[in-house]
Amino acid sequence: MEKFLVEKSRKIKGTINVEGAKNACLPILAASILSNGKTIIKRVPFLSDVNIMCSLLQDIGIDINKNIKDKTIEIDTKNIFNKEVCYELVKKIRASFLLAGPLLARFGKVSIQMPGGCAIGVRPIDLHLKGFKALGANINQKHGIIEIDAKDGLVGTEIYLDFPSVGATENIIMASVLAKGETTISNCATEPEIVDLIDFLNSMGAKIEGGGTETIKIKGVTSLNNCQHTIIPDRIEAGTFLVLGAATKGEISVLNVNCEHLKAVTSKLKEMNVEIEEKDNIIRVFGKNIFKNVDIKTMPYPGFPTDMQPQFMSLMSTINGTSIINETIFENRFMHVCELGLMGANIKVEGNSAIINGVDKITGSKVKATDLRAGAALIIAGLCAEGVSEIGDIYHIERGYYNIEEKLKQIGANIKRIDN
Ligand code: EPU
Repeated sequence: MEKFLVEKSRKIKGTINVEGAKNACLPILAASILSNGKTIIKRVPFLSDVNIMCSLLQDIGIDINKNIKDKTIEIDTKNIFNKEVCYELVKKIRASFLLAGPLLARFGKVSIQMPGGCAIGVRPIDLHLKGFKALGANINQKHGIIEIDAKDGLVGTEIYLDFPSVGATENIIMASVLAKGETTISNCATEPEIVDLIDFLNSMGAKIEGGGTETIKIKGVTSLNNCQHTIIPDRIEAGTFLVLGAATKGEISVLNVNCEHLKAVTSKLKEMNVEIEEKDNIIRVFGKNIFKNVDIKTMPYPGFPTDMQPQFMSLMSTINGTSIINETIFENRFMHVCELGLMGANIKVEGNSAIINGVDKITGSKVKATDLRAGAALIIAGLCAEGVSEIGDIYHIERGYYNIEEKLKQIGANIKRIDN
C-alpha cells in the first residue's frame, strides 16, 4: 500500500498549475454519450475517477482515445450500444450514476446499480429519480439495480428540486436535452461545473438557457453533434493550494484559475488576514501575517464549498482562538477530525458543527486519508506539523489531485511516496 511521508516545510515558494476540474470533466464525459459522432475534450485531468469514467464509456462501445501529454480525450460514439452498466466499475465511483440521464435520453432505457453511500454521507439519488419520473420514465428498483424505462419517450416538463443537488441537476439536464418540448428545472444547482456541462451540451447543439442561475430551461432537440470543449479550471484544487500556502507560511502563485469561481474561498482567507492577490487567471497567496480565527458554513455555490471544508480545518487548527465550521451539505463529512486529533489538533464535533480550538503546534503522526478532501487536509497539516507524518490510503487523494506529489515537491514541500 502506497503512503505519503510528509514533513514540516518552511520554504514553500513557487508557482503551481491547476488542472481541469474533475467535477466538470466527469459529467461532460457522461454527456458525450449524447453525441452522434466525435467529441474532443481538452484540459482533461487524468485522475483515477476520470479513467474509471472512460472505462465505463468503453464498456458500452464508445471509442476513447487518450492523449495524456496534451491532456486531451477524443471520443467517438459510432459503435455505442446499451446494456446494464458494468457493476464492477459503477461501485468504484459515485459519479457513474451520471450515465443514467444520457443513456435514458439516447436509448429510452437504462439499467444501473444503485451507487450506494460513501465515507462522507448516505448520498441518496431520489432527486435524480424524481426528475426522470417527471419526464415520463418508469422506475423499478430491485435487488440494488435500478431499471429506468421511457417506452413512449421523454417529454419536457417542470421540475422543482427540493435541494439544489449538483448531480441531480446534471442528470436531469442530460436526460431532457433530447426530450419532446421544454423542460424547466427550478431550484437547481448553480455551480460552475454545471455551467461548463451546459456549455459543452450547447456546443453540441443543445438548447439550454439559464446555466448558473436557479432556473434552467431546456428546449428539446432531435440530435446532438460533434464538438470540441475545454474543461474549466479546478476551483477546489486551486483552493487547496491557496490554503496550503497560507498554512505553511509560504508564497505560492496558483496559475490557470478562474478567480470568480474562488470568491468564497479567497474572501474567507482575506477575512483570516491571509494576503491574497488576484490578477487575471493567477492568484497569489502570502502566508506571512498573523491569522485570525473565523467561522465557516458550507453552502451550495456561490456559498462556501463543502469540498474546501477539511483543508480549512487544518489551517484553523493552528490559528489562535476558536473557529467553528458548520457543515450543511453532507451529514458525515468530519472523518478527518479524528485524524487531525491524532496530530494534536483540538477539535470537538457537536451535531453538524466542528469547534476548532487553535493549538500552538501540531505534531507528525500516522494517519489515514478517509476521503479525497480529508486526504488533502492531512497533507496540509503534515506540512505544518513538527516531525514526520505518514498518510495512508492515498488512493483517495489521487482521485482528485493530479501529480500532487510532484507539484508539491516543485514548490519546496517535503513529501515522499513510500510503498509498504
Ligand atoms: N442529495 C439528496 N438526494 C439526491 C441527491 C443529493 O438528498 O438525489 C443530497 C446529498 O445526500 C447531499 C447533498 O444533497 O447531502 C448534496 O449532494 P449533491 O448531489 O449536490 O452532490 P453530488 O452531485 O453527489 C458533487 C461533487 C462532490 C461535491 C458535491 C457538493 C461530483 C462528481 N461530485 O457531488 O464532490 O462535494 O457535489 O458540491 O461533482 C469531491 O470532489 O470531493 C466531491 C465529493
